[in-house]
Amino acid sequence: MIVITQQNVFNVPFSFIIFGGSGDNSYQKIYPALYDIAEKKMFPENFAIIATGRRYSEEEFSAFFQHSLTSDNRHHKHSIDSDSFKFLKSHMYFFPGDNTKLSFYKDLDRYLDKLGSEGFHSNNRLFYLGLPQSIYPTVFKNVKKSGLNKSRLGGWTRIMIEKPIGYDVASARRYDKMFLDTFSEEQIFRLDHYLGKETLENILSFRFDNNIFENLLHAGYLDHIQISAPENFGIGKRGKFYEETGALKDVGQNHILQMIALATMERPRGDTDKELVRSRIDLIKNLSAKPADVVFGQYTDGEVDGKKVVGYRDEESVDPDSEVETFFAFKAHFKHDRFKNVPIYVRAGKQMTTWVTEINYVFKSHNIGDNVLTIRIQPNEGVGLKILTKKPGYAKVLEPTLMQFCYKHYFPEETFDAYEKLLQDAFAGKRTSFNTSEEVEAEWQFIDPLVKNRTPITFHKAGSWGPKEAFDLIEYDGRNWIEPYAAFCQI
Ligand SMILES: NC(=O)c1ccc[n+]([C@@H]2O[C@H](COP(=O)([O-])OP(=O)(O)OC[C@H]3O[C@@H](n4cnc5c(N)ncnc54)[C@H](OP(=O)(O)O)[C@@H]3O)[C@@H](O)[C@H]2O)c1
Repeated sequence: MIVITQQNVFNVPFSFIIFGGSGDNSYQKIYPALYDIAEKKMFPENFAIIATGRRYSEEEFSAFFQHSLTSDNRHHKHSIDSDSFKFLKSHMYFFPGDNTKLSFYKDLDRYLDKLGSEGFHSNNRLFYLGLPQSIYPTVFKNVKKSGLNKSRLGGWTRIMIEKPIGYDVASARRYDKMFLDTFSEEQIFRLDHYLGKETLENILSFRFDNNIFENLLHAGYLDHIQISAPENFGIGKRGKFYEETGALKDVGQNHILQMIALATMERPRGDTDKELVRSRIDLIKNLSAKPADVVFGQYTDGEVDGKKVVGYRDEESVDPDSEVETFFAFKAHFKHDRFKNVPIYVRAGKQMTTWVTEINYVFKSHNIGDNVLTIRIQPNEGVGLKILTKKPGYAKVLEPTLMQFCYKHYFPEETFDAYEKLLQDAFAGKRTSFNTSEEVEAEWQFIDPLVKNRTPITFHKAGSWGPKEAFDLIEYDGRNWIEPYAAFCQI
């Protein structure tokens, strides 16, 4: 085993304060991640988790928290061990209140001090912002007025801010100014949870620690690159959020651009966090797409996994005439020589035929698609290389076959969720897997022109692979979307 860097160490006591503790993201991702950290016994001796929100009483919150770990949560499939659960629960507190009121922050400050006096160390504070962006201005103003932004008596104060930040370049700048008016850059952890995915982090090891592949990943050998990120579920109860955001801003501006960056960026010039982030930013700044090469789609009613589902316009809190996209596809180009004339095609959407995220490097070959290097981000994570193989027999008959590495095979016990890693990083003050403001701005610079010169919305049945126009986009260039291989890493 080659150990290159040391694991995170965060054996200092801290308080973790969740703004939006009754929200969907806390339920789906934060609580399961905290539980996993507890199960691995990675919390320090003294810590406190304080969830906040308006809608629940303490009792209701307790049920909500427990349900997040025991229900059919997509992000938390494994069973829970009662000792770990009890341990975590004994460090959890609920502090009800309204994030838009100054008194809430002042009371919270006193409450944290009280916990401190009862033995929980409260001078190291990490705030998590799981709130609607629309209330950020009030939140930051009140945090500043209450003094909660300040580091206390030799401790640290940090804030994790969820993606997306802003709605375009101008608002992202405005928001950033507001963040920096309240916190210093070192205190801010801008979160895009894809950066915490083990499979995404492994792209860099795969590329830069195994030179054989890296040498093949350039214009001399590649025909094009594809990313597919369909989801076989809808918008759930997030209609209001989705109406304001749409798929391109919800996942294109952040997750997809981060995947493109890691898949195609240059080797960082050094081993520091700064250089790694620099390399990601340089790539994003060198990527461009024409508005005409973007397809916006929306699902109509249909069938997904054998179940009938309603169209987007009939979802809760959605305008019946909504033109908001739930699907997008685009073709983009790189400005640098390494991928000169190697386009990248991307498609992503809700309520589609399957749930899978993968990056495909498609090599030049007699028939395009004969040789494909696939990095499967989720599910059944792994790396596969499609090659032609002679079928046993007298005649020369070639069959496409797959060489594959599967995480489950080598590391069957080691599950490591993105939020688990990012929370641990933020507790430990490690910044590599977080965005800088420059990076967020570069992402918006790519997205803004595509939104401002938007092509008309197209429609497709729920449970399909997206609208016809998305197929036209790639087929016009004499290429095809690669259907994810169903048997990939199903071991
Ligand atoms: N859900 C996801 O899959 C996901 C994924 C990545 C990022 N995010 C980001 O995470 C953040 C939270 O998203 P979410 O999906 O968890 O949202 P959500 O389910 O609507 O939850 C919003 C939370 O904000 C609280 N809140 C406090 N003051 C509020 C106010 N004045 N108005 C409305 N809500 C208020 C709500 O609690 P009370 O109503 O109890 O006060 C609730 O806990 C957003 O920035 C989103 O972009 C979400």
